[in-house]
Amino acid sequence: MRGVSSRYVLVLLPLAAVFPAQIVPAKTLPQQEERAGRFVGSAGCKSSSCHGGAGPNRDQFITWTQRDFHARSYAVLLNARSARIAETLGAGSAAASARCTICHSPFASVASARLKATAHPDEGVSCESCHGAGENWWRGHTRPDWSHAIQIAAGMRELHNFYARANACVACHQNIENALLKAGHPELRFELDGQTVSEPRHWRDEGQWNGVRAWLTGQAVALRESSWAVSTEADSGQAGGDRSNALAWLLAKTTEATPLPRITWPSADPATLLAQADGLARAAATSDWTQTSVEQLRVHLAATQAEFVQKGSEATGGLARRAERLVLALDRLTVALGDDHSTHANAATALGRLREDVKSFERFDERGFAGHLQDFRYAITLVSR
Ligand code: HEC
Ligand code: HEC
Ligand code: HEC
Repeated sequence: MRGVSSRYVLVLLPLAAVFPAQIVPAKTLPQQEERAGRFVGSAGCKSSSCHGGAGPNRDQFITWTQRDFHARSYAVLLNARSARIAETLGAGSAAASARCTICHSPFASVASARLKATAHPDEGVSCESCHGAGENWWRGHTRPDWSHAIQIAAGMRELHNFYARANACVACHQNIENALLKAGHPELRFELDGQTVSEPRHWRDEGQWNGVRAWLTGQAVALRESSWAVSTEADSGQAGGDRSNALAWLLAKTTEATPLPRITWPSADPATLLAQADGLARAAATSDWTQTSVEQLRVHLAATQAEFVQKGSEATGGLARRAERLVLALDRLTVALGDDHSTHANAATALGRLREDVKSFERFDERGFAGHLQDFRYAITLVSR
């Protein structure tokens, strides 16, 4: 067995041993859940009378093959950038290395006994990578007498609740070995709301303020995962610590302005922080919001410019990552409030500048950023009055 798959299996044990039982480690990739049956493969979903049709509720297969990044995640392993990363790592061919396929084409790491003949190891991140191995629910899941609970009991993965969904996505979208980053792999930053929009979504999330719920649940789950990586990985690197700190700072600021469970800052010990983050993620998934509470949170987060000027002991690299997570937050809250360019031109311009500021960590300028943050705050407080 190659390095990374043993790592993914191993990580389940220490977490369960060290942290309270109610914390579910997200590292359980659906492919590794033993309870489920065999994988059918996406070919099993593509008939035009099922999910390969043209109608609004039948087109998930088409959306996935034509527009979803996940459908090309295996093909990416065959490109020149992947070849360079794999060569730097001495990992041979990227498409044949479990260090890559574990996320880019998960069937490659599944024992062949668990793959039906219709499931291809080179499918990329396909339907069952998120929805769970289909064998036991695939035939029955369309029966009118099958409720959501029956589908889940038959092995379909629960994705409706944002906490469950965030756990499914974060397994591939936040933590990555530092060695891969050093070899040129892009950094991973999990943000459930924006990434759900760009996936693109092949379902509907009914109800108001789901964007805010998804954003906050995703950030809390990302904090849990990144603080876990820092506390357990020998080589998580300085950036690993900065990433976790940035999220803890943002969520401490966020929770001091809401009735949700608090994140302590400066951070408590890793085990406490991890438990706090998990508790926040669960609560955030079903949290209540109103226009006023979302506006108040946005103003509160935008009023942090002093923390970028009086830097204290925080090094610029740490501040840049803080700024990055803060801009993501302001961006998602702004989208949720529906403030677009036409209604809120000054805020949109200021937010655009903030996005530019965090594009490069090397060139990050904390004073410039603090100034732009102040402009943004003026713009949004003027309009909400
Ligand atoms: C922990 C999961 C994970 C592992 C392991 C992983 N990747 Fe990725 N990879 C991702 C994700 C998620 C993205 C998308 C990042 C983004 O665009 O924000 C990505 C993006 C990429 C990209 C850029 C894709 C593009 O469209 O520009 C390349 C190239 C790549 N990965 C190659 C590799 C190679 C080669 C390996 C093995 C050495 C590997 N990856 C291992 C999750 C992973
Ligand atoms: C990256 C993860 C991911 C992949 C890959 C994926 N899905 Fe989904 N899918 C989701 C999520 C998340 C939901 C929302 C679940 C919910 O709200 O209950 C969903 C919902 C659905 C729904 C319910 C639609 C609705 O309107 O309620 C169907 C049907 C579906 N997916 C089919 C597919 C098919 C077929 C494929 C492969 C061609 C696929 N999915 C691939 C994540 C994924
Ligand atoms: C089995 C691993 C896996 C799971 C689970 C997974 N992804 Fe991905 N995702 C990837 C990989 C690998 C890529 C890179 C594909 C590429 O760029 O070609 C990717 C790319 C993406 C991208 C485009 C790049 C980016 O970061 O903007 C989005 C958006 C995305 N995923 C959203 C999601 C969401 C939302 C979920 C959960 C509903 C999810 N993913 C679940 C592996 C996964």
